[in-house]
Amino acid sequence: MEVVDKVIVVVNEDRTADEERWPAQARDARLHFVSGKGGTGKTTVAAALALTLASQGKKVLLVECEERQAVAQLFDVPPLPPTDTQLVGMDGGGSVWALALEIEHALLEYLDMFYNLGFAGRAIKRVGAIDFVTTVAPGLKDVLVTGKIKERVIATDKGGGRTYDAIVVDSPPTGRIGSFLDVTSAMRDLAKSGPIRNQSEGVVALLHSPDTVVHLCTLLEAMPIQETVEAVAELREKDLRVGTIIVNRANPPYLPEDQTDAIAEGRIDSAGVASSLADAGIRLSEDDLAGLLTETIDYAARLQAQHIARAELDEVDVAQLELPTVENGVDLGALYELSAVLKRAGA
Ligand SMILES: Nc1ncnc2c1ncn2[C@@H]1O[C@H](COP(=O)(O)OP(=O)(O)OP(=O)(O)O)[C@@H](O)[C@H]1O
Ligand SMILES: [Mg+2]
Repeated sequence: MEVVDKVIVVVNEDRTADEERWPAQARDARLHFVSGKGGTGKTTVAAALALTLASQGKKVLLVECEERQAVAQLFDVPPLPPTDTQLVGMDGGGSVWALALEIEHALLEYLDMFYNLGFAGRAIKRVGAIDFVTTVAPGLKDVLVTGKIKERVIATDKGGGRTYDAIVVDSPPTGRIGSFLDVTSAMRDLAKSGPIRNQSEGVVALLHSPDTVVHLCTLLEAMPIQETVEAVAELREKDLRVGTIIVNRANPPYLPEDQTDAIAEGRIDSAGVASSLADAGIRLSEDDLAGLLTETIDYAARLQAQHIARAELDEVDVAQLELPTVENGVDLGALYELSAVLKRAGA
C-alpha cells in the first residue's frame, strides 16, 4: 500500500468564517441600509453590494437619498431621474436598478396620492417643496424618504410577484442614521392621524423586521471608528438590526507586527536597511535614505493607530469584513472587484 507521507494543508487565505463577516441576519434581509461617517465609502459599498446581490440572479434596486447624483457619477451615466432606471443587466438574469430620490418629487407624489393639494399645495408653491419640508414640516423629509423606500420594497409587478428581490440604500451618514430610521419619533411631531400616520406604521414595522439591516462603513481611523461604535449603540437602542461593519480601504501591513512599535518610536536599524537595499541592487544617497526612514517611521505610527482603532472595533459585538483599497480610483471595474470580495465574504 502506498504511504502518504505528505499532507497538503490548504489554508484559506481568509480564515474568518463567513458567518463572522456576513451574519445570517444580513443574509436574510431584503432591505440593506449602508451608512458610515462621511467619506468612508457608503456609496461605493452600497453599489458593490447591489452588484453582489445581482450576481446571484436577483433584481436589485440601489436607492440614493441625498440628492447628489453620486450613483450616476460612480456608474458614469447621465444624472438619474427620480424613477427606477436600469443600470446593469447580468448574464445570470440579475440586474441593478437605480432610484435617485428627490424630496420634491416624493413630496408631490405623496400629496398627489392623498390630498387635493389645498393648503399644503399653496404653501409648497409659495415656499418651494424643499423649504416646505425643512421649515414648515421638519422631520417630514425622512418620513417621505423611508416611506418611498418601503413602497419600493413591497412593490409588485403584473404577475403579483415582488418587483425587487433586494433593495440597497446609500444612506445618510452615521450622525443622522439613527434619526433617519426613527420614524416613530418623527411621527410624534407630525400628523396625529391620517394617511401619513397609517403609512408610517407600515414603515416602522418594516424597518424593525428581519427584512431590514443596517451596515456601517468605516476606515481604520479614530473618528470613523468612534462614530461606528456610537451608531451601533444607537441603532441597537432603537431596536434596529446591525448587519456588518465594513472596514473599507483596509490593506495588509507592510511592516512585521512585532517591530511596528519600535519603528514608530524611531528605533530603526538604518545601516541594516541600507545594506539590505544594496543587496537588492538599490543604492540611495544619504538624503534619500533619511527620507525613506522618516516615511517608514510615519507609516509605523499610522499602523499603530490602526491597531488601536481595530481593538476598539473588536470590542463591539458585530460581524466585520474588510474591503481593500483599489488603485487608481473607483471605476466600474473596481466596483466589480469589491463586489467579488463581498461575495467571498458570504454576501
Ligand atoms: N475601497 C476603496 N478603494 C479606493 N478608493 C475608495 C474605496 N472606497 C471608497 N473609495 C473612494 O473614497 C471616496 C469616498 O467614497 P464614497 O463616495 O463611496 O464615500 P461616501 O461615504 O459615500 O462619501 P459621502 O459621505 O461624501 O457620501 C471616493 O473618492 C471613493 O472613490
Ligand atoms: Mg456617498
